[in-house]
This record gives sequence, structure tokens and C-alpha cells, in this order.
Amino acid sequence: MQITIIGASGYAGGELIRLLLAHQHTQINAATSRSLAGKNITSQHPHLMGLTDLRFTNPDISAIDCDIAFLAVPHTQAMEYVSPLLERGIKVIDLSADYRLLKEIYEETYGVVHTAYQEAPYGLCELHRNEIKEASLIANPGCFPTGATLAAAPLAKEASLVIYDSKSGVSGAGDNPSTTTHFPNVSDTLTAYKITTHRHLPEMRQELIKLGSRSACYFTPHLIPANRGILTTAHIILNEPMEQEEVLKRYHEFYKDEYFVRMQRPSLSYVRGSNFCDIMVEVQENRVVAVSAIDNLVKGAAGQAIQNMNIMCGYPEQTGLTQAGMSP
Ligand SMILES: NC(=O)c1ccc[n+]([C@@H]2O[C@H](COP(=O)([O-])OP(=O)(O)OC[C@H]3O[C@@H](n4cnc5c(N)ncnc54)[C@H](OP(=O)(O)O)[C@@H]3O)[C@@H](O)[C@H]2O)c1
Repeated sequence: MQITIIGASGYAGGELIRLLLAHQHTQINAATSRSLAGKNITSQHPHLMGLTDLRFTNPDISAIDCDIAFLAVPHTQAMEYVSPLLERGIKVIDLSADYRLLKEIYEETYGVVHTAYQEAPYGLCELHRNEIKEASLIANPGCFPTGATLAAAPLAKEASLVIYDSKSGVSGAGDNPSTTTHFPNVSDTLTAYKITTHRHLPEMRQELIKLGSRSACYFTPHLIPANRGILTTAHIILNEPMEQEEVLKRYHEFYKDEYFVRMQRPSLSYVRGSNFCDIMVEVQENRVVAVSAIDNLVKGAAGQAIQNMNIMCGYPEQTGLTQAGMSP
């Protein structure tokens, strides 16, 4: 498969290159960056030195010739690429938020008019595998909604309230430096941000509804002094109390065929660099506490995008994604 990555100089794009270089069925034929066009990829991603001779190119749609294009560009920017690529028979996996929400919810959440809206399967592979198989365009999920939704999914139907409390490493904010991500503002401290207003909340709510849930849902993100990883504590208030044994049975049953979901005590270091999502659950009366850990750049972005590609292409789902986490 010939692959083009649009937005290859960013964190998610860099991670796509790292993972795809080890994928037995893919060859990257173009990797774009407007600001670094002509420069070697290793000028931006020195950790890939010796593994690739590719140079960044400009994202000129008429010159793109591939089987699958990954869009790793900021939200509101992906929509300009999707239709022209699809019209040329190229399958598209969009890592931005542009195709994750219903049109009116997207426009309200992101404050822009969607000029090229179309429906696309939400690429949370464990929940939407059948739709993904048939699709030409995939809306790869946000990093927070991935870990959060996987934590709550087995009990979504029985819940009356779900509260997600998430801690994220700084790479979730992308490569562009800002005051929020400036080292002295992040190191040796912990902050909550966008306490009630984070743009990933509508995605989380949308997924609960698709799971048949009528639960209310709230979300507060925190920034932690780490590069990668998201640990989410999901407080799931059930309509009726449930025994610990029954809850565990539900989770094990729900994920029994899922290679990338492991039922074990989560730690960011167990999943760092890997496509795994680790989940544990404990019960207190009618409150279930489900904790999940993912790497935001792998299961939360590039890894899940490749998992989606594997499903679309009929490859075994774990192809190119069997790396263990990097612990400690
Ligand atoms: N970071 C994460 O953990 C994470 C997780 C899940 C999803 N995502 C999503 O993935 C996307 C990329 O995130 P990121 O963290 O990698 O961002 P980033 O580090 O800021 O990288 C953005 C990339 O897009 C390119 N770009 C920007 N505007 C463009 C345009 N109009 N046309 C073509 N290329 C453009 C940039 O290069 P040039 O400006 O040089 O072209 C750069 O390569 C975002 O939509 C983000 O929300 C990120």
C-alpha cells in the first residue's frame, strides 16, 4: 500500500511515520509539511535517523498519488483535503476532529461552518469495526474520548451518570509551543484546564448515546508533567448497584476478543509507545470506578489510525502494532 501523510512534521504525523516504517504492507511515498518542504524528515524527527531518506513535500493535492492518505493536520484544516482525495479514489483516515461529530454539533463545538461535511464511521475500532471495514473515510477518534469511552463502554447502558476525570501528557497539545505547554508552567505541577468546556466532551457524549446509554456525561481534563499518556478515571453511576464479580464479568466478556484492550491495573508506562489500552474496575455500591491508560499518540492517534487502516484493508488488526509499552 502506498501511503501519504499530510501534516507529517507534527507529533501525530511523526508517530505515523515511526509506526508505518515497521508495517510490513506499507510504503510511505509522501510526507507533507508546508514549513519544512524540501527538508529531510529527520530534520524534524531525528529519532528516525537511519530509517528513512524521505523529504517533506508541500501538500499539493494534484500531486498526491497513493492508496491511503492520513490527515494529521489541525481541526478545521482537514475538511479542505477530504473530498478531493476521495474523488481520486484515495481512502482517507482523518486524525483531526473534522468528521467525528454530527455537522451541527461540530459547528457549535469548533465555531466554524463545515464546508465539506459528510458522514464517516467513528474509528474507535473496538466499537465500530463493521462500519470501518466498508468505509473510504474514517474519523479517527480524539485521544481523551478513546481512553474514556473504552473505560465506560461495557456499562454504558446501565449508567445514569458518567464523569470522566483525565490526566494527559503535554504532547496532546501538538508541536506548537504555547504558554500552557511552556516547561516552567508544566513541570513539577498539575493543572486542570477547560474544566467544563473541553471540545472532546461532545464526542464522549455521542459515543455513549451510540452505545445505547441515556446517561448524563461530564469531563474534566488535567495536564501532567509527562510527554505522553492519558490516564482516565471514569466514575460510572449505575441505575442499580452491581456486585464487583458481575462488573468484572461484564468487562472481561465485552473485551474478550480485543487484542488491544487489557484488563490490568493501568499505568502510563505500561502503554507508552504502544497501541494498548489497559483498564481496571472497582465497585463501590452503585458507583463503578473504571480507570484506563493509553498513549495519546498511539492508541489515541497514530496507532489507532493504523488499526483502522488494517481493518479497511483486511490485514490482521495488530499488523505493525505489536510493540510493548516502554516500562519503566
Ligand atoms: N497530539 C495528540 O496527542 C493528538 C491525538 C489525537 C488526535 N490529534 C489530532 O491530530 C492532528 C495533528 O495533531 P498534532 O498534535 O500532530 O499537531 P501538530 O504537532 O501541531 O502538527 C500539525 C501538522 O499539520 C501541518 N499543517 C498545519 N496546518 C496545515 C494545513 N492547513 N494544511 C496542511 N498541513 C497543515 C503542520 O505542518 P506545516 O504547518 O509545516 O504544514 C504539522 O505537520 C490534530 O487535528 C489533532 O487534534 C492529536
